[in-house]
Amino acid sequence: MINTKIIEIYDENDKDNILKVANYLKNGKLCAVPTETVYGLAGNIYCKEAIENIYKAKGRPCDNPLIVHVDSIDMANNLIKNKTDILAKLQKAFWPGPLTIVCEKNDNVPFIISRGLNTIAIRIPRNKVFLDIIKNTGAPLAAPSANLSGLPSPTSFKHVVDDLDGRVDCIVKSLNSDVGLESTVVSIVDDKPVLLRPGAITKEMLYEVIGEITIDEHILKKADSDIKVISPGVKYKHYAPKTNLILVKANKTKFALFLKNTLNKSDDKIGLITYLNEYYNDIPSVTIGSIDDEKELSKNLFSTLRDIDKLNVDVVFCRLNKDICNYDAFYNRILRASGFEVIVCE
Ligand code: TXA
Ligand code: MG
Repeated sequence: MINTKIIEIYDENDKDNILKVANYLKNGKLCAVPTETVYGLAGNIYCKEAIENIYKAKGRPCDNPLIVHVDSIDMANNLIKNKTDILAKLQKAFWPGPLTIVCEKNDNVPFIISRGLNTIAIRIPRNKVFLDIIKNTGAPLAAPSANLSGLPSPTSFKHVVDDLDGRVDCIVKSLNSDVGLESTVVSIVDDKPVLLRPGAITKEMLYEVIGEITIDEHILKKADSDIKVISPGVKYKHYAPKTNLILVKANKTKFALFLKNTLNKSDDKIGLITYLNEYYNDIPSVTIGSIDDEKELSKNLFSTLRDIDKLNVDVVFCRLNKDICNYDAFYNRILRASGFEVIVCE
């Protein structure tokens, strides 16, 4: 059990505390930090022990590589083999921001980061506190989401404490994550760019900048754990609440009917994820946001997934009223959280 230090940084001008965290990282300690997507668990890429400890603290499978966070295009390019046109276009259009680019690495990338792959996943975050922490550390920082492996990614300081208190050296207490879902991951290793993980930078936004982009088949369906996949992360169960979550594609009337029938038939204790201004009598529920505000739904999804476990029910239903598009970030994550269980009521 580690004595985890809590350091409050709400403002990027809080130089003293930013330096404190940077010093921890320089010295190979692990610090959970805010980013605009989700909180990350940062470690210095040049410190082998720090990187090993990230895997230990999270209980992360050791073949799942880490995203490297840098403070500038120069710091990124120092780790990348081929500086292609596509790379430059993506960097210019979307950095700093929630886009992770997978490209060929060069020899400056320690083996412990690439884990046998010849590629690196890299991004410049937009969160000012984290950017200043990287600048003051003076080294690229590997940072997976700061949750225990398999649990929903943390979007608040409280989520990080719940998962990692006593397992890491320091947790930065800061604002909730702005986006709420992890970065978009795009691979430009081959001639044709491939979308490996949907996020706030959408396929359409990428298309505007680099043209045609294909979607990794594993986004579209569940990956079997024994098949080789391009992005190792897609084969693990992710974002799963402990409670069984089932999605129900239905309009409000059909959904009410479905609930009535289910309550009549089943002894299971039932809970709901509901939208603002949708009420179902006496059924324990967590409200996620307005049904037509996808930004808000995305921002609240992971805290909602953590909250449904506190309802103390056997199964939670969530109504979806439009076609589920797997390469749309919100639907991709909620679909994975449900273990791809969808009931269609038409
Ligand atoms: O928004 C984010 O990306 C957050 C914040 C902290 O930056 N980080 C994050 O990291 O979500 P993590 O480790 O939870 O997810 C990293 C994903 C995994 O699915 C991993 O398999 C993939 O990126 N990845 C990392 N390196 C890769 C590589 N060389 N090739 C393909 N996929 C890679
Ligand atoms: Mg993660």
